[in-house]
Amino acid sequence: MAKVSFDGTSGFEVPRHVAIIMDGNGRWAAARGLPRGEGHRRGVEALRRTVRAAGEIGIGILTIFAFSSENWSRPQSEIRDLLGLLRLFIRKDLSELNRNNVRVRVIGDRETLSDDVRGLLEEAEELTRNNSGMTLVVAFNYGARQEIARAAQRIAEAVVSRGLSPADISADKLSEFMDAPDLPDPDLIIRTSGEQRLSNFLLWQSAYSELVFMPTFWPDFDRTTLEQAISEYARRERRFGGLAAAGT
Ligand code: IPE
Ligand code: IPE
Ligand code: MG
Repeated sequence: MAKVSFDGTSGFEVPRHVAIIMDGNGRWAAARGLPRGEGHRRGVEALRRTVRAAGEIGIGILTIFAFSSENWSRPQSEIRDLLGLLRLFIRKDLSELNRNNVRVRVIGDRETLSDDVRGLLEEAEELTRNNSGMTLVVAFNYGARQEIARAAQRIAEAVVSRGLSPADISADKLSEFMDAPDLPDPDLIIRTSGEQRLSNFLLWQSAYSELVFMPTFWPDFDRTTLEQAISEYARRERRFGGLAAAGT
């Protein structure tokens, strides 16, 4: 596993899977008297920086919360801005991500998305499918309760038509029916903007994730803030319900 040291002291292990709730674009803009859309545009720049930095640091999987199932309740104009930025991000950044050997995955409900947005997301996954570098998981039209309900639907389907026995439905089994079952749970979940909640993000997978809440608004996020969050993570002691490791 990759070891890093940001402050010249001994290296520590980089979390394998980091997930980020990119929050605070609107407040970043409001604080500057700018429209919320400008905050979202600057948020995409922060995302570019962060993907680059995460790759350099040696993070294996980066999951980003880009649009929640509940974000449809925002004004139409803001939804248009956000969808426009997703399109732009894929059109402009996909080839660079691919060049950098990044593998793109998407979690969330695709069924209800328009054909063009669904097509772009599929194109991103398809183009980068065989890449072996960092995995970038884009949570789009994503809600964790909805994901768990989808898993329940798929597992019910397996009971009905593939002979799965209800007695064999364990937590591990249910995990196999989530949107990205092959990926490990996030080690670290970062939320920017000072809010301290998960807002329906990765509820199943966050059972033992370390949570780091930062006051920074997302458009100001950069490599330094990412390193701060990882340093904080490195100071945590993960016990998974067991006892502290001997000698620590
Ligand atoms: C995060 O910023 C981006 C999305 C939710 C898509 P917000 O738009 O939530 O910004 P605030 O929280 O209103 O400042
Ligand atoms: C969570 O942020 C969703 C994303 C970052 C995409 P929100 O801004 O939607 O969450 P709440 O409404 O403050 O809980
Ligand atoms: Mg918000």
